[in-house]
Amino acid sequence: MVGTHHAAILPQKGGPLSVGERATPEPGPNEVLIKVKAVALNPVDYHQRDFGMPPVPIYPAVIGSDTSGVVAKVGSKVSTAPALGSQVIAFASSFYHNGSPDHGAFQKYALAQSEGVIALPDALSFEEGAVFPLAVMTALTAWTSIGIPLNTKYTPQDKQAVLIWGGASSVGTFAIQSAKSLGFTVYATASSKHYIYLKKLGAHGVFDYKASDVVSQIIDMVKKNGVNLHTAHCVVNGSLQPVLDVLKQTKGDAVAKVTHSPVLPPDHPTLDKTEIKFNFPSMDPVIRDKHMYECFHIWLQDNLKSGSVVPSPSIQIKRGGLEGLNIALDKLRAGVSGTKIVVPI
Ligand SMILES: NC(=O)c1ccc[n+]([C@@H]2O[C@H](COP(=O)([O-])OP(=O)(O)OC[C@H]3O[C@@H](n4cnc5c(N)ncnc54)[C@H](OP(=O)(O)O)[C@@H]3O)[C@@H](O)[C@H]2O)c1
Repeated sequence: MVGTHHAAILPQKGGPLSVGERATPEPGPNEVLIKVKAVALNPVDYHQRDFGMPPVPIYPAVIGSDTSGVVAKVGSKVSTAPALGSQVIAFASSFYHNGSPDHGAFQKYALAQSEGVIALPDALSFEEGAVFPLAVMTALTAWTSIGIPLNTKYTPQDKQAVLIWGGASSVGTFAIQSAKSLGFTVYATASSKHYIYLKKLGAHGVFDYKASDVVSQIIDMVKKNGVNLHTAHCVVNGSLQPVLDVLKQTKGDAVAKVTHSPVLPPDHPTLDKTEIKFNFPSMDPVIRDKHMYECFHIWLQDNLKSGSVVPSPSIQIKRGGLEGLNIALDKLRAGVSGTKIVVPI
């Protein structure tokens, strides 16, 4: 495609984003060019804008990961992505493309690899579709990083439970939805105002992380329900210690497995017979592409079709398009509660 388009460009570390023109790229053989209609925001976006972390290898950069839009062009070897003109959900992230600004979400046209592009269901708006990519991939990678395949189907007789600390976060809501689909009994922590919502998503028990006795509340519930709790996902910062305090009392002789979505500090707490893994996809591109395909083309697509996964958490639309992204990112940085900020483009 010959031409140019508008992009929210990150000119240097520290930002701010500034709207400018970029050459519209041609998709590579395995890529899809997306005409972006909506983007969703993630904490990594303001970390990259404000601190250059995770590292931004190329400036001027285009950041962002979560898009929905319309297929504008399809690469020569793509066999699995929806056809030209289809409405899609697309994971468009320069992070997995050595910082290539053609692949960042915050622009009118972005490249995405075909493994991360699936049809947007008719029932969903572009704004709803944009909430899935990074949060779903993170929630699903959490399972595989601790050896739980995405086709796992525990039955109630297996009595397998999981603890998700940070259930009302964007990643947390998909951790709950996916845990339910794998057959876990799901316990989550959140502010009490989110209890009903998180139970609707699939949590069996929700606990207020601000309560001084939250750890003993969870342990009591596990004992009462007679389930095995030796698996956990620490979704938010500061959650590892209370999660280990719970597991110490519930894991029995099992080796406990904990996946940790925020970066793990080197001096993090530990527990005997407990594996603690930073939640991150393989950096081997072949393994990662296969995993991405399983996340989007199998797990997400199937669960969207059956209606067993829904957009979450509640969406807050911020107007202003590309020009409005700095303010929207500032809002996310100031803190959200049970909300995903989405910007129509
Ligand atoms: N490893 C990766 O590849 C990867 C990818 C994506 C994200 N992440 C990381 O995952 C984390 C979550 O990201 P996100 O986008 O899901 O965040 P988010 O939606 O912005 O998280 C906000 C939520 O965090 C909850 N929260 C804050 N402190 C809490 C605590 N102590 N206990 C329980 N809940 C707490 C709040 O719950 P209430 O409203 O109930 O108070 C709020 O709803 C971030 O650290 C992010 O950087 C990692």
